[in-house]
Amino acid sequence: MWKELAEFHVDLGGPEHRLARGWKAEWRRFVRGHIGRKDRVCLVAEIDGVAIGFLVAAIPTRPKVFERRPYGHVYDVFVDAAHRSRGVGEALVNAALEWCRTRRVDRVELYTHARNEPGLRFWRRMGFETTSTSWIAESERLAGCESQP
Ligand SMILES: CC(C)(COP(=O)(O)OP(=O)(O)OC[C@H]1O[C@@H](n2cnc3c(N)ncnc32)[C@H](O)[C@@H]1OP(=O)(O)O)[C@@H](O)C(=O)NCCC(=O)NCCS
Repeated sequence: MWKELAEFHVDLGGPEHRLARGWKAEWRRFVRGHIGRKDRVCLVAEIDGVAIGFLVAAIPTRPKVFERRPYGHVYDVFVDAAHRSRGVGEALVNAALEWCRTRRVDRVELYTHARNEPGLRFWRRMGFETTSTSWIAESERLAGCESQP
């Protein structure tokens, strides 16, 4: 499922999501690091023991210069296409928000690709709002920024 999510992001125009060789072992390590931890979580939605969706989130901490330091961050949420539009995504997000609440986190952040219309709609419906815009410069633009002698 995570491979599908990465490929979906590449299709949306995010080449940085292209998978490297050996990604499976790295991904496993990353997910395992989110199990059994107080500040990280990996939720799985199942039907008859078969995974049909997942969500990975964590509670990172901002630098000490800030008053409000811990916050929730949802890295990934994905539901298998055959099981969408039945409330599975909503259930995963609600469980993650509850997990954050029990850890006294009152703000949850995440990124969605600007071209991911269903994803944007989903987060709006879940009560999230856009607060920032990411800007990306591609290689041609960076080549034009080389320092002058
Ligand atoms: C975004 C995503 C996680 C949503 O998962 P989902 O299980 O389909 O989510 P839900 O079922 O809770 O909600 C999806 C839609 O189904 C509708 N729905 C939910 N239960 C329903 C039901 N019983 N009957 C009819 N419609 C229903 C919701 O109202 C919602 O409508 P909307 O598209 O207008 O918002 C899923 O589409 C996905 O994996 N997309 C690819 C990855 C992605 O974009 N991830 C999020 C961006 S970071």
